[in-house]
Order: sequence, then C-alpha cells, then structure tokens
Amino acid sequence: MRLLTSTILLCLLITTLPRPSIGDGTLTSAQSLDDDDGKTLISAGGSFALGFFSPTGTDNRYVGIWYNKISVCTVVWVANRLRPLTNRHGSLKLLANGTLEVTDDNSTVLWSSTSSAAVRNPVAQLLDDGNLVVGSAADDESNVSFAWQSFDYPTDSLLPGMKLGWNLTTKFNRQLSSWTSTIDPAPGDFTLGIDLEGDPQLWEWSSFSSEQGTKQPKWRGGPWNGLGFSGIPQMQSYNMFSLGFTADDQEVVYWFEMLDPTFVSRLVVNQSGALRRVVWVEDSRLWNPIWESPVDWCDDEISPCGQNGVCDAESSLRCACVTGFRPANPTSWNLRDGTDGCARKTALDCKNGTDGFVLLRGVKLPDTSRSTVDWSTTVSAGQCRARCLGDCTCTAYAQANISGRGSGCITWTGNLTDLRLYGSGGQELYVRLAAADLRSGSRNVSFTVVIVILSILATLSLALVVYCIWRRRRRRRESEATRTLGMSHSILLARRQGDEGTEANNLEISLFSIDEVVNATDNFSVMSKLGEGGFGSVYKGKLGEEQLEVAMKRLSRNSVQGVDEFKNEITLIAKLQHRNLVRLIGYCIQKEERILIYEFMHNGSLHSFIFDKVKGALLNWTTRYNIIVGIARGLLYLHEDSRFRIIHRDLKASNVLLDKDMNPKISDFGMARIFKGDETEVNTKRVVGTYGYMSPEYAMDGIFSVKSDVFSFGVLVLEIISGKKNRGIYNSTYNLNLLGYTWSLWKEGNGLKLVDESIGYSFPKAEIFKCIKIALLCVQEYPQDRPTMSTILLMMGTDIALIPQPRQPGFVGIRGPNEINSSSGSNHDSLSINNLSITAFEGR
Ligand SMILES: *[C@@H]1O[C@H](CO)[C@@H](O)[C@H](O)[C@H]1NC(C)=O
Ligand SMILES: *[C@@H]1O[C@H](CO)[C@@H](O)[C@H](O)[C@H]1NC(C)=O
Ligand SMILES: *[C@@H]1O[C@H](CO)[C@@H](O)[C@H](O)[C@H]1NC(C)=O
Ligand SMILES: *[C@@H]1O[C@H](CO)[C@@H](O)[C@H](O)[C@H]1NC(C)=O
Ligand SMILES: *[C@@H]1O[C@H](CO)[C@@H](O)[C@H](O)[C@H]1NC(C)=O
Ligand SMILES: *[C@@H]1O[C@H](CO)[C@@H](O)[C@H](O)[C@H]1NC(C)=O
Ligand SMILES: *[C@@H]1O[C@H](CO)[C@@H](O)[C@H](O)[C@H]1NC(C)=O
Ligand SMILES: *[C@@H]1O[C@H](CO)[C@@H](O)[C@H](O)[C@H]1NC(C)=O
Repeated sequence: MRLLTSTILLCLLITTLPRPSIGDGTLTSAQSLDDDDGKTLISAGGSFALGFFSPTGTDNRYVGIWYNKISVCTVVWVANRLRPLTNRHGSLKLLANGTLEVTDDNSTVLWSSTSSAAVRNPVAQLLDDGNLVVGSAADDESNVSFAWQSFDYPTDSLLPGMKLGWNLTTKFNRQLSSWTSTIDPAPGDFTLGIDLEGDPQLWEWSSFSSEQGTKQPKWRGGPWNGLGFSGIPQMQSYNMFSLGFTADDQEVVYWFEMLDPTFVSRLVVNQSGALRRVVWVEDSRLWNPIWESPVDWCDDEISPCGQNGVCDAESSLRCACVTGFRPANPTSWNLRDGTDGCARKTALDCKNGTDGFVLLRGVKLPDTSRSTVDWSTTVSAGQCRARCLGDCTCTAYAQANISGRGSGCITWTGNLTDLRLYGSGGQELYVRLAAADLRSGSRNVSFTVVIVILSILATLSLALVVYCIWRRRRRRRESEATRTLGMSHSILLARRQGDEGTEANNLEISLFSIDEVVNATDNFSVMSKLGEGGFGSVYKGKLGEEQLEVAMKRLSRNSVQGVDEFKNEITLIAKLQHRNLVRLIGYCIQKEERILIYEFMHNGSLHSFIFDKVKGALLNWTTRYNIIVGIARGLLYLHEDSRFRIIHRDLKASNVLLDKDMNPKISDFGMARIFKGDETEVNTKRVVGTYGYMSPEYAMDGIFSVKSDVFSFGVLVLEIISGKKNRGIYNSTYNLNLLGYTWSLWKEGNGLKLVDESIGYSFPKAEIFKCIKIALLCVQEYPQDRPTMSTILLMMGTDIALIPQPRQPGFVGIRGPNEINSSSGSNHDSLSINNLSITAFEGR
C-alpha cells in the first residue's frame, strides 16, 4: 500500500490555536467570513470545515472545504481556484440576493457563485456531507431546493452524495478536474466526466501537450453495467459503498454513498492524471488507495490493440485478435505494435442469414460511443441477439445490465475499439462472425482442447513412469555435472538430503467452513484484502483459537472446476513441502466458493521490495544473494526433488514472498494445474504466465519445460540485481529491455553498471558478476543451452572461470528484419492459438 503524501496538505490553519467558528455552520447575509479573524465555518456534525487556507509551499490564500475530523488536512473543494488572494485580508460574503463572493481588501471580486435566481432572505450553510449550500432561510429542511450548491462545482474530489454527470434539462455538466500542481488548485490537465454519446460512458480526458482547449481521451471507464463501470470490474465487489447511476431523460449521473458512515472515502484525480478511490485509515494516518487507474499496460492508452484487437495485460503477447479476425498489419503486430488492429477474415453475410456469434468472457466492453442501448428490463439476451442479427450494420451485442440474471441490450455498429480482458470480473460480449469463421474456430478449439488434455495426460503419466527410473539417471547426470565443474559430489548430496528432510513433515491440511473464512476476513472486507491476481483475490485473516495469521486466496467464480478435481489438486500441493515454498495450511470449499489458505508471509512480495527505491534499500547484497539461492532451491525441489515434476510456469517477483526473516518462498506453484479443469474451456484463455518472464519458445509456441522456468529464474535474478523490471525500456536508442540492456553491458565488460544503486557501493563484485553470468546463461534463446536448476546451484558455489560463456539472450527487444521474417510463421500459429484460447464458442 502506498502512502499518499503528495495529496496531503498541511492546513496551517488547523495546527494553530483552537479556532473560533461561526455558529451552526451557517452564514447569513449580515455576516462575513474574514481571513483576518481566522474563523472557519464548521458543519453541524463537525465533519467538514470551510475557511481560508494556503497549500503547503505557497502563501496564496484560497477559500476551501476540508475534512475537519481527519488528522491530515485534506482539501476537497476550492472556491477561488483561478484567482488566489495574495494577502490575508480576504473575505467570504453572502450578498442579500443569495450570491456568495470572495473579495480582497479592495473589494475586488475574485470569485462569486453563479446562482441563476435571486433568493429572498438567503442563508449559506455548510452541510455535514461537505456540501456548501445557499437557500432561503424560510425553507423547510426536509425539502429544500438549493439555489446554489458547491456539489455542483466539484474540484478534484468526488464525495459521497455528490453527482458526476449531466442535468439534461439545463445541459449542466459536473466534472472533476485535477489541480495544476500541489501548490496550485487551478484546473489542471485532467478531467473526469461522463460522455453522452451512444451508451453514456465514464471518461478521463487530458489536455496535456495538446492544443489549447482540446481534450484528448486518456482513459475510458466505459458504460455502466448495473453493478459498476465496465472498465472498473473491482466495483462489482465493493461492499463498503452503494453505487448509483441514473440515465433517464432528466439526468445522466453517477454517485456513491457510504454504507457505513464511519468510513471516509472519496474518488480523486491527481495532477498527473491518476484516478484513485481512497479510504481514510486513521490508525496509520493515510489515504489508502483501494483502486487506481491506470492499472496496467492496457490502460495506458486508449485502444492499444487497435480495432477488433483485445488487450490482455497478463499475456506476453499483450494483444490478440478477436476470433475470426487477423492482424491488419502483421509486420508491426509481430513487433508488438498493435495499434493497426485486426481485420475480419471473412466478410459478414447478412442477407443469407448465416452469421453467428462468438462469446468473449471477462472483458471490458468496447467503446460504446457507436452503440445503441436499451435498458428495458424485459429485453432478454435472446431478443438482443435477434435484434443484432436483424440489423446488417450490427457487429456485436451485450447485455446492458449484468446485475441479477441480466437484462437490456447494447448493440454496436462498425469496428470494436478499446476492448480488453480482465483476469477476474469483466463481462460477456458477443461478436458477430461469418459462418466460415465460426466453423474453423470451433474445429480449432476442439483441436486445442484435445492437445491440452493430451499434454496433461502425458505430463502425468510421464511423471509416474519416469519417477521409478529417475533417481538413478539423476545421479548419473549429477556426477557428470559435478565432474565438469570440479565440485565435490558429497556437498550436493548433503544439501539434497537436507531438502528431503522437510518433505517428511506431516502433510496435514485442514478443511475450513465458509463461516470460519468469512469471520477471519471480516466478510472479505476491503480492509483485509491483500491484493488481487488473475485467479482471484487474496485476503489476510486470523484463524482458530491461536489466531494464526493466514493468507486466503479466493478463486474467482469463473472457475468451472469440479469438487473432486479441486481436492485432487489440494492433495498434490499439500505434498509439496519445502522451506522455499509457501505452505498450504488448508482450504475451504462450499457452494461456489473455492478458497486456498496459506501461511501468512509478513514481508509481502519480493516485487514490493526490489522495484521500490525506499524498500529496496532494506535489501543489501547478502540478503539479495540469499533470496536468489532460496528461489533456486525451491525451484530445484519443484523440478527434480518433489514427487512430481512440477513446472511453475509463472515465476516472477510478485510470486516470491518473504517471511519475517526475509527468507524467500515461492507461491502459486502448480496453479496451472489447479486450473486445468478450466484450461480446456474458457479460462485457459492464454498461455499462462507473465510478460517479461516468459521464454521465447513458451510465449511464441506455447512449449514449456523446466527450461522455461529456468528462463524466468534468469530474468528474476537480473531484476533482483538491478532493481529494474524486464518490461521497462532501458536504452531508448535501441529499444532494449532489461535482458538486452544487460547483454550490451556484459559485452562491453560493464556488467556491474547493472547493480541497483540502493544496494550501496560495498558488495563482493565477483559474486555479483557470477550471478549476472549465470542469469545470462538462464535467459539464452534456446532451451537446450540453458542450465538445469541443479547445475545452477552448483555454479553458484564454483569459480566463475569454470562457468561457460553465455550466448545472446532471447527477447532482447531488438529484432532485425531477418528475424522478423524467420519467426513470422510460428508467430501466426501462436496468434491463432492465443485468440482462440480467449474465447468459447456458441452454436448458431
Ligand atoms: C489595493 O489597492 C491598493 C491601491 O490601489 C494597492 O496598492 C494594493 O496592492 C491593492 N491590494 C490588492 C490585494 O490588490
Ligand atoms: C446579486 O448581486 C450581485 C451584486 O450586485 C450581482 O452581481 C449578481 O448578478 C446578483 N445575482 C442575482 C442572481 O441577481
Ligand atoms: C415540503 O414537503 C412537504 C411534503 O413532502 C410539503 O407539505 C411542504 O409544503 C413542503 N414545504 C415547502 C417549504 O415546500
Ligand atoms: C436540473 O436543473 C434544474 C434547474 O436547476 C432543476 O430544476 C432540475 O431539478 C434539475 N434536474 C435534476 C434531475 O436534478
Ligand atoms: C498521482 O498518483 C499516481 C498513482 O498513485 C502517482 O504515481 C503520482 O506520483 C501522483 N502524482 C502526483 C503529482 O502526486
Ligand atoms: C449465400 O450462400 C451461398 C451458398 O452458401 C453463396 O453461394 C452465396 O454467395 C451467398 N449469398 C451472398 C449474398 O453472399
Ligand atoms: C439492473 O437489474 C437489476 C436486477 O434485475 C435491477 O434491480 C436494476 O434496477 C437494474 N438497473 C437498471 C439501471 O436498470
Ligand atoms: C472498420 O475498419 C476497416 C479497416 O480499417 C475499414 O475499412 C472499415 O471502413 C471500418 N468500418 C467502419 C464501419 O468504420
């Protein structure tokens, strides 16, 4: 969790002596609020305060509203954003006709409220929800219609009860706009609002580096789907708020309310355009983000995969074409530039009536500005489908309201843009295809299914058969390796026996009831949530009388795995016991819930350390080296020493957890197996794994072996040494990723330049050099060139001169024209596998 220091201002006002305030939070036309007196207006319940303040770093004065009960002053609304006061003699007045004015000592008006009608006997009041309103003193409190309210003129924060969007009668629009900088609340480059074209959508716009006055779309939150915005699937699981959206002929607005008023939350857009929903945590005195955007690569720009392309942040290829489409520009597509998008393989055949649909699950709906929406609750999915088939321009349909059993209908015309996949959440979209593309699609799918089943069976039977003869062969292999490296065999054997010792521990795992889990996680509350991954969410909880701290992984409901399969997997994982693997303690299976319960790791993931400047400094070289060795031993166990040959397939920094003594433990092992039931259906979706850690043969052709784990291990070692992510670009001239960058430094003999500054300057150079060399051996292009984990562990204990020279890594980020041509064949295959695997087919 990140601290939000940047949005926290010190209200100098609050830190001075107890301040006088005006009555019950009201201001009449006879009164004024003067900066000279240092007075504030406090709302009746004491939640909010209105007064003069200066952002830290400037002496300019502004009239604003801030939280009155929160220890870190947070301004949520500013009146004179554009024209600050330059001294402390300003005042806020209510005129006799109901207009509010901020004036300086020469009575120059710097800001005034824009009420349309005069109010007799006006009174201004700061309500306890943070709304400053002007009404008539005669108004009965229960049914006041305010002549003016600050909630209609939001600055950068959306508070509970505030509306974002349009009053259609008056064409009045409420939008959030960022501050220009931390010291200047004037409207900045970013706005958040609702666009009415087609099915209304939430958008963030940017005017940054564009011609004055023009707004460029920055991020699309998408249409409302009954549970939340299509582009924020997390909203579907919020249990702390009630969310509302109205779209009728009067207004199109979004708002939220807190279900538990003791929580304080707001939605805020910051100076650099990040959008965050934050909750105040008084104990740690910080605004804790529970959601923010951009989340990943797919959110960085609008429609990164072009028209009819699907962005998948968890796949190494990132972009895929919707089934029935092929890359419009294969050359740039293969270079990972998806912006040209995809074109239909076969034209639609509307007249013959042979078109059908392919179903995409777990998506963010494409841009709905060229769509038509019908919210009627009586329209079923079948009717929606018929409606689309009956219109030759219709290219896709989806249900407008996914709440409950689903209702309503959205139909698209033309090309689909800004389509993306989510690991969990998301909704269903039906894309229209010509009959030819549906048929070839289904054939390929069943083909893929057969291949997947065969490969699972093959892996299992191989594991069984090979197990009996395997130890003998392993010994022989080892002795060869030991001889070449000139290292004593007995050291290795001693180490192995140590590892096997842990395997003999009891294998007991417990079954927990859903009630126990619900209690332990406070009903899966946002507060107990540790994170979210492709397979579901992880919560922290305390179980049993000892209040044992555990991490609970709640698998997403999209999983179609049966009870028996799930239990088989549990048994398998339970047998994997090693000090460098996270231990499974128990599980819960009830109705649709599938929950895995692991030991709790106090220091969280390695990812949160090595890529963070501040936390990174806590890991000196010795600790990092121990982490590398620990990961290597955990992998060796999975690959060679456990009862089964396990290929992890998703080794990465965020899957390595650290216990309280900074010992690394690999988590999520065997996850691919757990999801095997799924794999044959929807959720196999893709080559399992993470971009940046995948070996070329796995990412391109879906071939995996222990050597693909070795590749990921090599990437991880380089990340641990450099504190840089392989995904980034570290040499803009040649477009090099971390592997390419390391390789170029290595060739120049500058390997040590790679070392993360936060390691400091005193470290054993030879040891780091050796680790870099080993890592480079691991990330070589061809699997057969890469060492096995046992050889790697041997190498770590040997002299660097005995380690062979690495060859150029795979996936360095540069590709010459020849390479493009030679790889395009296999690339096409993998693209079709990739786009097929994200879909399921529906008969016509
Ligand atoms: C008010 O007017 C005086 C005289 O014209 C000028 O010197 C002073 O700067 C003005 N004050 C502000 C705050 O503009
Ligand atoms: C109220 O009075 C001020 C100052 O005379 C004037 O500028 C403003 O337009 C008036 N507002 C209305 C609603 O009449
Ligand atoms: C407020 O509403 C009630 C009915 O809800 C109505 O009887 C009453 O006259 C209203 N008061 C004013 C001041 O409009
Ligand atoms: C739209 O604005 C008008 C004028 O202020 C107001 O009377 C009306 O109630 C508003 N409509 C909604 C739905 O808030
Ligand atoms: C805005 O928020 C993002 C995401 O939390 C953060 O990285 C960035 O530094 C913030 N920008 C400013 C100017 O505070
Ligand atoms: C309709 O289908 C037939 C046979 O499948 C085909 O020959 C014909 O060209 C199709 N008509 C149109 C308008 O595409
Ligand atoms: C969506 O459907 C649910 C359940 O049928 C219903 O309660 C809700 O009012 C619908 N939402 C809209 C905006 O129509
Ligand atoms: C869809 O994209 C293709 C290729 O860019 C283009 O030829 C076609 O006109 C587009 N269709 C629509 C309806 O815009």
